[in-house]
Order: sequence, then C-alpha cells, then structure tokens
Amino acid sequence: MTTPAGPPTVRATFSTYRALFDRSRSTAMFEKFAQHGDLVEIRGPLFRLWLCSDPALARELLVDHGRSVTKGFGVRMISIGLGNGILTNEDPISHRRNRRLINPAFSASALQKYAEVMAAAAMRADKRWRAGQVVEITEEMGRITLDVVGRTLLGDDTERDAKTVIDSLEVILKRFGIGFIPGATKLLDTNLPPAVKIKNAVASMRSTVERVVTAHKRGDRDYDDIVAALLAATEDGEGFTEQQVLDETLTLMLAGFETTANALSWTWWLLDQNPAVAAALRAEVDATIGDAVPTYADIARLPYTMATIAETMRLRPPAWILEREVKEPIDFGGYHARIGTTILTSPWIVHHDPRWWGTDAAAYRPDRWLNDAGEFDHGAPGQPRGAYFPFGAGSRMCIGEQFAWAEAVLVLAILARRWAPVTEPNQDVRTWAAVTLRPHPGIRMRLAPAPALAPAS
Ligand code: HEM
Repeated sequence: MTTPAGPPTVRATFSTYRALFDRSRSTAMFEKFAQHGDLVEIRGPLFRLWLCSDPALARELLVDHGRSVTKGFGVRMISIGLGNGILTNEDPISHRRNRRLINPAFSASALQKYAEVMAAAAMRADKRWRAGQVVEITEEMGRITLDVVGRTLLGDDTERDAKTVIDSLEVILKRFGIGFIPGATKLLDTNLPPAVKIKNAVASMRSTVERVVTAHKRGDRDYDDIVAALLAATEDGEGFTEQQVLDETLTLMLAGFETTANALSWTWWLLDQNPAVAAALRAEVDATIGDAVPTYADIARLPYTMATIAETMRLRPPAWILEREVKEPIDFGGYHARIGTTILTSPWIVHHDPRWWGTDAAAYRPDRWLNDAGEFDHGAPGQPRGAYFPFGAGSRMCIGEQFAWAEAVLVLAILARRWAPVTEPNQDVRTWAAVTLRPHPGIRMRLAPAPALAPAS
C-alpha cells in the first residue's frame, strides 16, 4: 500500500494574507483552517504548509519525529539576535550537550534560590502599586519578569543591564514585527535604517552581557546566578566557550521574560472577568500563606493558584504556535512529508478544542485541573495525552518550565492577596499572535484593593 501524497488542501484566501499583517486575526484564521481536518495543507501562491490540530499528531511531530525535523523560519530569524543558544541551535549533538550543561542551572535547588528572587520582585511591585493607580498591566508584569531574569541570570545588581538587553532584543524583534514592550525602542530607535538599528541593538546587548560575563570571570566576588552556573558547567572536563555563555544567556533572557509576562497579564484580565475564580484564589492564598512571603516549598501547597495559571495558559498559551521543518522524509499522519515541508501545530487550537475540553472549552475554569482530592493534576484529569502543551514536548521542550511555574505562582499569590486589578472600560483587548500571544494593544487596569474575604462560617 502506498502512502497518499498529501493531506486535504485548504486554499489561502485574502483574509490569510490580511492575518499576516493584522496578528489579531491570526488565531481565528488558524481555527478556520483546522475546521477542515486534523491535518491539512494550507496552500497559497508563495507558500505551502501543513497544520496539525490533534493531540496525537502534535506529539508525533514534536516527540516521535523530533530527530527528523528542525525548527522553522521564525526561529532562524530570531537567531540573528540571539546567536546559537539552545533555542535556535539546530545541530542535534551540540544541542543535547548544551542542554545537559544548562540543566543544573534549573535544578530544584537552584529554583529554590530563584524563588526568593521572584518573591522579592513581586514584593517590590506590591510596595510600588498604589490604590486607584491605572497601569498598563503588560508593562507591570514585564517589569517584574525583567527584574527576575535580570537578577537570576546576570546577578543582583544588574537591573540596568537587563533592561538594556531586553530593550535591544525589542529593537531586533520589532524589525520582524514581533516586538513586545511599548516604547522600549526609544533606547536605540533613531531615524537610522532598519539594518543599522538591528546591528546597533545586537552590538549593545552583546556588549552588555559580555561585560557581565567578564566581571564574573574576574571573580572579584562570589556570583550565584545563572551566568555563574553556565561558566562553571562542564562535561568530560569541557565547558562552554565564553561566546556560548553569551549566546545561552541572551537566549534564556529572551525566552524567559516575555512568555511569563504574557501568562501573568492574561491571568489578571481573566481573573477580573471571573470574580468567583479570583475569590477562590484569594481564599487559598490567605489560608495557606497569609501575610508571609511564600517560598518554593509553598508552591505545592497552592493547587488552586497553580490551576489558575494552568487554565490561563490553556486559553491563552504564550507560545501559541510551534513550527517545524522536515529535514529528512517522514510518514506523518498517514502522509508522506518531503524534505522542506513546514508543519505547524498550535497549542491555541488544541487547547480550545471541545473534543478534549468539553462544551465549556472556552470557559475559564481552574477547577478542571484539580483531582478529587483537590490536588493539582498536571494532566488535567481525564484529558488525552498531548491535549495541553504550553511548554511544547520532546527534546525541544521548554527548559525553563519549572522556573516559569514558580515565578507565575509566586507573583500571582503575592499580588492577588492585596490587589484585584480592574480592566478600565472601553478597551478592545485582542489576542495579538506574534511569536508569543500577547494582549493587544495592552490592558489598562485600575489597581483596586482586593475585597476583604468573607469570614469563615
Ligand atoms: C509561561 C512561560 C513559558 C512558556 C509558555 C514557554 C514555552 C516554551 C515552548 C512552547 C518552548 C518550545 C518551543 C518549540 O518547541 O518550538 C520553549 C522553549 C524554550 N524555553 Fe520556554 N516558556 C516559558 C518560560 C521560559 C523561561 C522562564 C525560560 C528560561 C528562563 C525559558 C527558556 C526556554 C528555552 C531556552 C527554550 C528552548 C529549548 C530548546 O530548544 O531546547 N522558557 N518554551
């Protein structure tokens, strides 16, 4: 029996091209394509790509065929700024080795230390916030996650350096239409042509991190951060070159900053629309940690808070689409995929599918993540494997997953006990599907004090 040549075809239309420029239309466009089948080929005059929207197929792509595919065009673009860190590294042997070298920086004992940094960053925001103040919540969450990546990666006195790096990354990404922080480009954004701006931004961020790495190497004091861990990491007596430490540091900063900021921003917005969820969250935090500063160990004692974050990342997965390019021919979903075929899979589509999540798939229901004993269940009780993959799957799965959980849970727990941000009226908040899924044009929220909890009966 021969394998059929390709999956059912859907033609790109005018709205497909419009969605390329107006990213607030992208998720809806992909949902429409997915209605034609779990595996379809989307065809236009200039491109041809496959979209798979079934949990089993997504795993087949990311896990089973992990060695036969590379990341796609989008990631190649990012490597212009980041160099050859593990996010963009396409050589399977050095990618595996480098992941092994980085892994200890994300061990449980390392996370315990970072949790203190995360809690302190949230406490600083807690002190900074004023009742009645109207803030752009994505900027506030970006400020906290920048504070955290800056201190955990570069050291505790490097807020300025972290900002320079992130601002420079912003300039680079914005040139590809995927910028994040409104206004951040001021640093380098003059009337220079785009190529010069990118070059300047790359030079600025690399020289900043270079300076930090050199200070670490001089060893004039004891550093206890991720750069120090990368410099110390060895396998068979060999470690990273200084250049590689630089690339990996920039990579972790980019990957770790915006994704978590988006998850937290969407959480505040969803909590505002779901007061019963917000009340349940507050009740848990109050009963579990009260006024204390939560630690890494407390995270496991906050199942509803975990579930709240999990449910946000189901409905608003920060990495909403994953791309792979076939590098050796494979049979995929019953079809023959040739070298060069681009295959996409979208956490957004799978996470919203009523076949896996029920008729209330669109509802924000953290309790779907709790088992009968009230414990948080990473698999969402009853869901098929692969129906939830905000951190990807397989050999390229997120290395910072536990870091992100810790950060999101601690920041949310600390801020939710005193604050209940309220969305300002007359805003058309859309999902902007760039490399990450962010609220567009942002969300203005008024910082209202959290309502007092009803006394226990
Ligand atoms: C809510 C927060 C986060 C989400 C949703 C997220 C999501 C993802 C996803 C889906 C991937 C896989 C991409 C693919 O397969 O093409 C990934 C990879 C990666 N993430 Fe995260 N991430 C988050 C936070 C972080 C943090 C905090 C860090 C580091 C501090 C980080 C570092 C990385 C790196 C280095 C990779 C590349 C791994 C590799 O290719 O081997 N991420 N992330």
